[in-house]
Amino acid sequence: MKILLFGKGGQVGWELQRSLAPLGELVALDFDSTELHGDFSRPEALAATVEAVRPDVIVNAAAHTAVDKAESEPELARALNATAPGVVAAAAQRVGALMVHYSTDYVFDGGGERPWREDDATGPLSVYGRTKLEGEQLVAANCARHLIFRTSWVYAARGGNFAKTMLRLAGERDRLTVINDQFGAPTGAELLADVTAHAIRDTLREPAKAGLYHLVAGGVTTWHGYARFVLEQAQAAGVALKAGPQAVEAVPTSAFPTPATRPGNSRLDTRKLQETFGLRLPDWQQGVARMLREIL
Ligand SMILES: NC(=O)c1ccc[n+]([C@@H]2O[C@H](COP(=O)([O-])OP(=O)(O)OC[C@H]3O[C@@H](n4cnc5c(N)ncnc54)[C@H](OP(=O)(O)O)[C@@H]3O)[C@@H](O)[C@H]2O)c1
Repeated sequence: MKILLFGKGGQVGWELQRSLAPLGELVALDFDSTELHGDFSRPEALAATVEAVRPDVIVNAAAHTAVDKAESEPELARALNATAPGVVAAAAQRVGALMVHYSTDYVFDGGGERPWREDDATGPLSVYGRTKLEGEQLVAANCARHLIFRTSWVYAARGGNFAKTMLRLAGERDRLTVINDQFGAPTGAELLADVTAHAIRDTLREPAKAGLYHLVAGGVTTWHGYARFVLEQAQAAGVALKAGPQAVEAVPTSAFPTPATRPGNSRLDTRKLQETFGLRLPDWQQGVARMLREIL
C-alpha cells in the first residue's frame, strides 16, 4: 500500500509520519518539498503530485492554522484550507484513493452546552472556521471515499504549545489570567495520528465507514482548567514556579480581545467515531500528563 502525506512537519503531520509508517510505503511532503510539489498556496499544481505518486491513501495534515492571522489574509487561508484540499480530493477520486482530512470545532458557532454532533448545523465565526468548513465540504463533494476528522485544541510535545506557554509564564510571573468561558478538550497530535491509522485500516476493509467524524480526547475543560492542570503536574514533578495552580485567575474571553472570534462551546460528541471504529478515546488529562512528562 502507498500513502501520500501532505503537511508532514506540522503537529499532526509529524506524528502521522510515525503512525502511518507501518501501514505501507509513505511519501511525506511539506510545502517546501522539492521533488514533488506539496505547497498548498499553489493548489493547481497538487493534482500532478497525486497523479505522480498514485497513492492508495492520501492524508492531508497541511492547513492555515493561525486563527487570528487568517482574519487579515483570508485569501491565503482559503487557498490552504479549502481550495487545495478540494483539488487534492478531486485527484484522489481520479486515482481511486481514500482521502483523509482534518477539520475543526471552529465550524460551529459555539452556542449552548451540548457536545456538537456531526450532523449539527454549522455556523463558523471566523475566517479560519469558514475556510475549514468550505474545505471539508469540498473534500466530501470531490472524493466519495473520504475520512474527515473534526478535532479541537491540538497540542504536541514538539514545537510551541499552550502548556509550554503557561509553564514559561508561571516561571516569570506571580499571577496568570486565563480564559474560563471556552469549553473543549485538549487533544494530542499522537492520539489523532494513532486513531487515523486505525480508521484508515478499517475503512479500506469496510468502505461504508467513510465519512465525517468528531475526534477529540475524552472529558471537557476550559483554558483555565487546562492551565491549572499543567501547573499542578509541573509542581508535582518538582518544577519551581513563581505562580502555582492557585495563582491562575479565571477571566472571560472578553478580557483578551483577538481578531478572530472563538466559539464558547467547542465540545464535540465522539460517539459516532468510537462506535464505528470500536475505539476508546482517553480523557484529555492522560495525553497532557504524558506530554508534560516528555517536556519537563
Ligand atoms: N492546532 C489546533 O489546535 C487545531 C484544532 C482543530 C483542528 N486542527 C486541524 O488539524 C490539522 C492539523 O493541524 P496542526 O495542529 O498539525 O497544525 P500545524 O502544526 O500548524 O500544521 C500545519 C502544517 O501545514 C503546513 N503549511 C503551512 N503552509 C503550507 C503550505 N503553503 N503548503 C503546505 N503546507 C503548509 C505548516 O508548515 P509550517 O509549520 O512550516 O508553516 C505545518 O506543517 C489541520 O487541518 C487543522 O486545521 C488543528
